[in-house]
Amino acid sequence: MARVIGISGSLRTRSLNAALLRVAAGLAPAGTTIEIESIKGIPLYDGDVESSTGIPAMVASLKDRIAVTEGLLLVTPEYNNSIPGVFKNAIDWLSRPADDIPRVFGGLPVGIIGASPGRFGTLLSQTAWLPVLRALGAQPWFGQSFYLGGAGRLFDASGALTDEDSRKRLQGYLAGFAEFVGATPRRR
Ligand code: FNR
Repeated sequence: MARVIGISGSLRTRSLNAALLRVAAGLAPAGTTIEIESIKGIPLYDGDVESSTGIPAMVASLKDRIAVTEGLLLVTPEYNNSIPGVFKNAIDWLSRPADDIPRVFGGLPVGIIGASPGRFGTLLSQTAWLPVLRALGAQPWFGQSFYLGGAGRLFDASGALTDEDSRKRLQGYLAGFAEFVGATPRRR
């Protein structure tokens, strides 16, 4: 049984990326679970806060859950051709203190997918995550990619992904990622 944590990088209730993550959790292959975690409520990183009161409780508890997961699925929006600040901010908090990075992210298999109404479906923000994951010592999966462009018209009002071709592509991505997670024990 492969255990994967999935995080959407949008705070919006009607987020396309949160919807995509929920669909992904439902399409995970047999033997793989995608547990949805949220970054809502993580404050802006402030080194003074870290020095005086330490890591916020919700960050510390999410760190502990990531530290024991076998895989991480980032579902990223794209803002101005890059990573949205709220998502990067969350990962920045999760990377503190730096000497805890190997425990939390070291050798962690990471998949990246994303949805946007635009044509390129988060191509640039997915690419922008790569140096971040390198800095954290994680292991991004390069076997396939999943970009959901034109996503505004691919979900129904309940958040279901109604486009069959997109569902098939997502299912194929998740099957490949799950295989990678299963074959890639974490090395820290
Ligand atoms: C966007 N959007 C966007 N889309 C894209 O494909 N490339 C981009 O560079 C940008 N830039 C951008 C900047 C800012 C500040 C905002 C608010 C939005 C549109 C974006 O993809 C769209 O709002 C998505 O719906 C955001 O993801 P969620 O919240 O639906 O998950």
